[in-house]
Amino acid sequence: MQLEVAHDLADRLLSELPDRWAHSQRVLAQAKLLAPDLGARGAPLMVSAVLHDVGYAPSAVDTGQHMIDGARYLARLGWPPLVCSLVAYHSSSEWEAAELGLSRDLAEFERPPSDLLDAITFCDLTSGPDGALVDATGRLDEVLCRYAPGHVVHRAVAAARPTLLAMVERVELGLAPRPGGYPM
Ligand SMILES: [Fe+2]
Repeated sequence: MQLEVAHDLADRLLSELPDRWAHSQRVLAQAKLLAPDLGARGAPLMVSAVLHDVGYAPSAVDTGQHMIDGARYLARLGWPPLVCSLVAYHSSSEWEAAELGLSRDLAEFERPPSDLLDAITFCDLTSGPDGALVDATGRLDEVLCRYAPGHVVHRAVAAARPTLLAMVERVELGLAPRPGGYPM
């Protein structure tokens, strides 16, 4: 099954980055909560979720923009275009690419449907760097603290923040009530 293959691939690629792997497993868990409402598109969301940060793997690093590097790596392995697109565009990718002069590289990939982009961004931003559940506002604040103000990630996330929080809010508003509520 494609999700099992994706899970094993991410596990292997991120074996030297245990926090990234813990984070990625939480992103997958969040995607599993959203998948039932997405019909056939739930599967590519879950596959993209577990693979979304493989661009940090030493064997995938190229430009240093991990969303583009991950998407290119997966495209070379033959993963479906929708999976590659979701990895390429997740979270603050478009802002980081602009900061780095890599917008044309990102444009190698088609921009994914906006509701799926909202979904993977929600999953990423509600998953902490060590795999804990977090709220998106705190998560973005943590990223802004982790990277110095002059760093490209800091600048990109600062610019992207209102849009990213709106994406997360759209997903939250569409969530069906769940016993015990959603942990966010
Ligand atoms: Fe992530």
